Order: sequence, then C-alpha cells, then structure tokens
Amino acid sequence: MNAPLNPKFPFLLHGGDYNPDQWRHVPGVLDEDFRLFPLAGINSVSVGIFSWTALEPEEGRYEFGWLDDVMDRCAARGMAVVLATPSGARPAWMARKYPEVLRMNWPESVAPARNLWSGRHNHCPTSPVYREKVRRIDEALSARYGKHPALAFWHLSNEYSGECRCPRCLAAFRDWLRKKYGSLDALNAAWWTGFWSHGYTDWDQIERIDPCLDGLVLDWKRFVSDITADFVRMEAGAVRRHAPGVPVTTNLMAHYDGLDYARIAPEIDFVSWDCYPQYHERPGETEALPARFGLSHDYMRSLKPGKPFLLMESCPGPTNWYHHNRLLRPGQHRLKSLQAVAHGSDSVQYFQIRKGRGGAEKFHGAVIDHEGTERTRMFREVARVGRDLKALQPVLGSLVPARVAVVFDRESDWAQKASAGPSDAVKQHYFDTVARHYRPYWKRGIPVDVVNGDAPLEGYDLVIAPNLFMLRDGFAERVGRFVEAGGTFVATWLTGVVGPTNLCFRGGFPGPLRKVLGVWAEETDYLYDDERNSIECAAGNALGLQGSFGTGTVCEIVHPEGGAQVAATYGRDFYAGSPALAVNRFGKGEAWYLATWGDDAFLDAFHAALAARRGLRRALEADLPDGVCANVRENDAGGRFVFVTNFAGEPRAVDLGPAPRKNLLDGGAVLSGTVTLPPFGVLALAES
Ligand code: GLA
Ligand code: ZN
Repeated sequence: MNAPLNPKFPFLLHGGDYNPDQWRHVPGVLDEDFRLFPLAGINSVSVGIFSWTALEPEEGRYEFGWLDDVMDRCAARGMAVVLATPSGARPAWMARKYPEVLRMNWPESVAPARNLWSGRHNHCPTSPVYREKVRRIDEALSARYGKHPALAFWHLSNEYSGECRCPRCLAAFRDWLRKKYGSLDALNAAWWTGFWSHGYTDWDQIERIDPCLDGLVLDWKRFVSDITADFVRMEAGAVRRHAPGVPVTTNLMAHYDGLDYARIAPEIDFVSWDCYPQYHERPGETEALPARFGLSHDYMRSLKPGKPFLLMESCPGPTNWYHHNRLLRPGQHRLKSLQAVAHGSDSVQYFQIRKGRGGAEKFHGAVIDHEGTERTRMFREVARVGRDLKALQPVLGSLVPARVAVVFDRESDWAQKASAGPSDAVKQHYFDTVARHYRPYWKRGIPVDVVNGDAPLEGYDLVIAPNLFMLRDGFAERVGRFVEAGGTFVATWLTGVVGPTNLCFRGGFPGPLRKVLGVWAEETDYLYDDERNSIECAAGNALGLQGSFGTGTVCEIVHPEGGAQVAATYGRDFYAGSPALAVNRFGKGEAWYLATWGDDAFLDAFHAALAARRGLRRALEADLPDGVCANVRENDAGGRFVFVTNFAGEPRAVDLGPAPRKNLLDGGAVLSGTVTLPPFGVLALAES
C-alpha cells in the first residue's frame, strides 16, 4: 500500500487552522472546543500559525504553557497536530527594536521607504536579524515538540508571498545576477539593454526593477522565488533539527503568481494548499469554475509527483473577502471538500475552526460559529464531511494515474506579463487559457498532471502546451524526442516566442519548436472582444473533425512546412483558407498546432478526438452529463477509487457500467448501471 504522508497518523486529516491563543484568557473555550471536535469528526488541528506574540511576548522569554496544553489534549485523543512556525507575522516589539525585519517596498522612481509594522506577511527575507529570530523560535518549537506524540506535520510560516526592495535585498539580487551571468556584458546582452540607453557599466547601477527591461523583471521574479526558497530551507532546517522524520510543508496558493512554486517544492516534503472556490457565487456555473479548481488541485498535486497533497485551508461557509459571499447551498461544502480528495488530497482542512470575535476575519466562515454550538447548519455540514472522510479511509495514500500532461509554466507567465504586448487582452489570462484546454479532459474523467517546461515528458501519451510564450532551454529538444518516440504534442498560438531571458527568437515563431510542429507563425490578428473568425474543418482530417467553429479573439497566420497537414482553416478575412489547425508527423508521433484561441465547442471536439485517438483511459467508461466530473485514484495494492461529483444544482443520471462497485459513501451501497446523483452529490466507488 502507498504510504500515507506520515505513517504514524494513518488517517485522512479533518481539521484546520485553530487559534486557541486568541482565546486563552476566555475561560471554558478550550474545553468546549475539545467537546465539539469529535462531534464534527475533527481529528487534526493546525496551531501556532500567527502565534509569535503568544509564544514570545518579550524578546527571549518564551511561553509554551498554552501550547503544551493543546498538544497534550490532542495527544490524549490521538489527534494529529499540524504545528506551524510563526514567521508569517511578527511581534511589535521586534519591529520596533529591529526595523530591518520589515519590508521595504517602493514603487519605481520613488524614494525607498520602509513599511510600517502592520498586517502580516511583511518581512524582509534577507534580514539577518529576522532570519536569526525565526531560526531561534523554530528550533525552540522543534526542541519542545519534535518528539511529541501529537506532532504530525510542520507547517512553515503562512502563504509565503510578496517581495522586499530594501538595499540589502537588491544587493542580494546583484549577487544572484553575478552568479548567473558572470559578466556585465553577458547581462547587458541577455536583457537587451541597448534599449533606451539602459546599458549597465557597474553592478551597483542595478537598483530599480525597471519595467522597461522585461528580462530584468523576469530575473527579479526568479530571484524573489529563490530567496523565498532559501528562507523556506532555513525554516525547514530549523524545525527538522530536533524532529527527524516529521514531514514539512507550507501552504501554497495555486493562483498566486508572485512565486514559482517549482522552485519552492524541493524544500518541502509534500505540498499543501489553500483553496477557496466560490461555487456559490455563480449558481448557474456547472463546469468552467469547477474545472478551473480541478486544474488548481492537479497543479498543486503535480509539484510533488508520487505523493498525495493536503487541502490545508478551505472555507466551511462563505469567506469574508469575495465581493459576493453567497451561502453554500446544502451539500456544496461536502462537494468541494471531496473534490479535493478526488484530485489526490489526503485531507480536508479549514480556515478556520473557531471564528474569532474581532480582527479582520471575524466574519470569515468557520466550523464553530459565534453562536458557539453544534447546532449550526455549517457545523452539521462539516460533521458530515467528517463521517465521509472516515468512510474514505481506504483511499489514504493513493495516487492519480495520469497519461496526459498540461504544461503550465509560471516563468512563461511572468515573461508574457512582463512584456509590453503583443496583446494585453490575452496575457493576463494564461491560467484561464490552460484551464480551457484542461476542461475537456476534466469533463471526460481523464486524469491530468500539470508540469512546467523543465519537467520530463517520458511516460505521458499526450502533452499539451497552450500559449507557452517562453521556452526553457532544452524544452524543444525534449519535445522533439517525446514526439519522435511516439508521443502526441499540442501547442497553440503565442508559443515559442521568447527564450529564458525574454528575448524574442529569431528565425520565425514558434522558435525552436518550428521543426517539430511543422509551422511558421508569421503574424497574429487580435480581434475586438465581440469579433470572431471561423474555423472550418478540412475534409478527411486526421481527427475526423467536422463543420465550423468559432475562433475566439486570437488568430495567428501560419504556414505549414516540411509536410505538415492542414486540418482546419480560417473562414473569413484576408487570411481565409490559411491554416487554423495543422498536424505534423514526426518520428513515430505527431505534433498539433492550433493557431487560434478556439471557442469552447471547438476545444471540446478537438481534445475529445485527440483523447480517443490516443485511447486514453477514463475514470468511468461513460459519457458524463454536463456538470459531472469523474476522478480516479489508485494504490499499489490494486485499489482503484472512482469519484463522481455533480456540480450541477440539479440531479444528474450517470451510467456506472455493468460491474457492481461499492460506494464508500452514504452507507456503502453496491452500485452499477444508471444511477441518479442528487444536486451536488458525490460517489466514491471502490474497485479492488
Ligand atoms: C488565507 C490565509 C488564512 C486566512 C484565509 C482567509 O488562506 O492563509 O490565514 O487569512 O486566507 O480566507
Ligand atoms: Zn529586504
């Protein structure tokens, strides 16, 4: 059987952020919490996330008593504690005494200014004082709790994010650049600094992240990720010191574009992330939004291949920060919780367990409301998830078997966003573009990994790289080998435009992918929002696509080369009849180039045909109705678990096929044939 993330805690975690330090002077609350936990099936708490002032009220004076009490109560009940380091927010005394711990952020061309102490997530990552203070408290936590029977996982800081532009951070950036480029000549060439007379003659002249140099902006972002990874490494080392074997994580945010998580993942033992789908905001939305969050789960999961992840935070009820905070319809909480499990999570955890009375999150959903009892609707919904997770125990440790990889590359995202043009209308939507290509697989129950341009491609049948603006060194060669050996590769418009320092490729786009794709992309027409061209499928095309579809707003004009075949053409404008879709046979495989955005109907037909051509296995061998998704997890003992989730606010009939399988949920009925799922219903079918 695949090992759970911590074999000493062999159960699916149910719990989340818990702040007893905010209540430590209020009598009776802790007792009441521990009375309520079993009623909600809570078997885990994440503590200490913002507890620095409670742990170290004065410099060097530690108060661990309140935390000892929580840890011991958890140990007595066999609960798993996710213990956090407090570096996400620092005490006022520290900021007063050592202002260097605070960030300096300043907009370009304005004098540097140090942030005032406020909020959270506000530290300078290179401050020696801050590093030392964090290292000390982390080691103190490790020494005190490293062998505590309740300690299951370390939770480093909270949602590492942001950047600091203090002189010390900029000096560290210059060191990073020196190491990377070796000489100013190499740097000037890489950044194209002849532009607007930007040539550097001294390293110290690099003192602004000048937006007109898009190569500089890209390197700065890489540096911010590296310096954050270095901070993570320091914290991981400190907590591991007295706690060998206790796995370390930090809570990531799939949608956050300030860090390249591929650079952070090597520092942690497993991935966890904070997921807040607002399904309740758009009641009519049954596919695009759930698929987008499906992609986020798969993106996070794929950062650590071969391991489950944890859903570290999610909201029981509405958050307080979406523009609209609609109530979750009955069953929606369970649906979004089990969606995470279906995609490979070994937990459902919340922000937060008990709602605070004050502060910026007093109206954020929680397991225990201000009312304070088990009588609330959300408490009952949470308790139901608690029962579900118990029933889903056989799923623990199982993995997602994907033969398809979608490329989502944060560096490419940055490169595109840092570039002025070619179209502002598309470059903010890279993740959405990837999601539009992911959705046809999601709705067919075909598992997908999400990789970046550095990842190995062997082992996949199909690799899809939508709008991969920047190519990493070696990517085109790896794609060439992958296709030659029989793989299917898909690229689209605005792919292969720049290399790793954001310089445009010479010799025609898609740059080094031109040969394998067999196209030259000469020009791109960006249509007005309400304009469309059409895609006319060519007779006898290899995918059997038929009829006419819409283009969306991006239309590239491309020329097939070296024997590539045209599978569809544009219907209108001066480029009518030129290729909208082409395929190039290359070695034993084939490479597809989609020159236009393509409307949803086209993308669905195109990817459905590709999936059939590759014979990709679906979680369920049946066509799923609108709003229904199927996911699969497997373990190495032959267990196969199929999750069927209904995002539609209406019942949906699903054909489960002739073989009887046990539904782990709702009392364990054995099911086969056509079954009707209620609105927001979930099945978890076990085969073994
Ligand atoms: C984030 C943070 C939490 C909390 C929640 C609110 O995910 O990590 O501390 O602020 O948002 O949704
Ligand atoms: Zn700094």
